[in-house]
Amino acid sequence: MEGGRDRNGGAEGRCPTGVADLDEILEGGFPRGNTILVAGGSGIGKTTLGFQFLCDGAKRREPSCFISVTEPTMMLKRNIANFRFFKPEYVDPARLTLLDLRAIALRMGLQDGMFQPTEHVTLVDTLQQIARELKLKRLVIDSMTAICQWLHDPVRIRDFAFRLGLALSELNCTTLLTSETPPRELRFSNFGVEEFISDGIVFLCEEEHGRQLARTMQVIKMRGTAHDRSKQYMMLSRDGISLSSKLRLDSLARKGVT
Ligand SMILES: Nc1ncnc2c1ncn2[C@@H]1O[C@H](COP(=O)(O)OP(=O)(O)OP(=O)(O)O)[C@@H](O)[C@H]1O
Ligand SMILES: [Mg+2]
Repeated sequence: MEGGRDRNGGAEGRCPTGVADLDEILEGGFPRGNTILVAGGSGIGKTTLGFQFLCDGAKRREPSCFISVTEPTMMLKRNIANFRFFKPEYVDPARLTLLDLRAIALRMGLQDGMFQPTEHVTLVDTLQQIARELKLKRLVIDSMTAICQWLHDPVRIRDFAFRLGLALSELNCTTLLTSETPPRELRFSNFGVEEFISDGIVFLCEEEHGRQLARTMQVIKMRGTAHDRSKQYMMLSRDGISLSSKLRLDSLARKGVT
């Protein structure tokens, strides 16, 4: 390694996020092996950030995996193909794997695809097995909220999140868990447990500017990182997410939207 950068271009011990502006805030990226909660309301960009993070991994040939709890793999492929940071050749077990919960249930031997909340430890073991087999360096679980709704009980949720974090950090797999929160509320989870078990929180929100809704991103916590906690404006396009400290409604204003 040279000058504190590893051969993948990330700062030593850091996992680049796929969003250059966020890497700058995070001293090069997420701390490797950490579990990060990506919280925000509906349509704010949680899944997009997850895709961008994994495609960055695929580009660097770091085995990466997206696990969707709510959408079938076919829909995921369609959504990810909309972005210019995605390349079809990334979809390969050595680079990017897209899985849905049904595929995981079948792996657990549940032919009907249905879990029982009491099987949460088996689910963690299965996820760790997948991470081990694929030699995962990056994982996104979309969403943690759906898993929590299924687990229901806060004690079980805490146990699941704790075991999962431990299992994946043993493998040095950097993990993003998405958390669905009510719109425009400073809140990071539904069960009030998830944020305390995560090593970091990236909070996505929105602000009204005239008739426009501007997206924002804020790093609330990131263990072991001296980071800026100020709100950044977040742009979302086919090129993915970028950040700016200044609100830019120019392109929308030109179209007469503001
Ligand atoms: N190519 C694109 N260019 C600009 N904006 C886009 C593009 N693709 C998606 N979007 C915007 O991103 C939104 C969806 O983002 P995303 O799916 O990442 O949100 P999310 O936080 O995961 O939402 P949910 O909670 O519903 O899963 C769309 O509603 C749209 O506003
Ligand atoms: Mg989503």
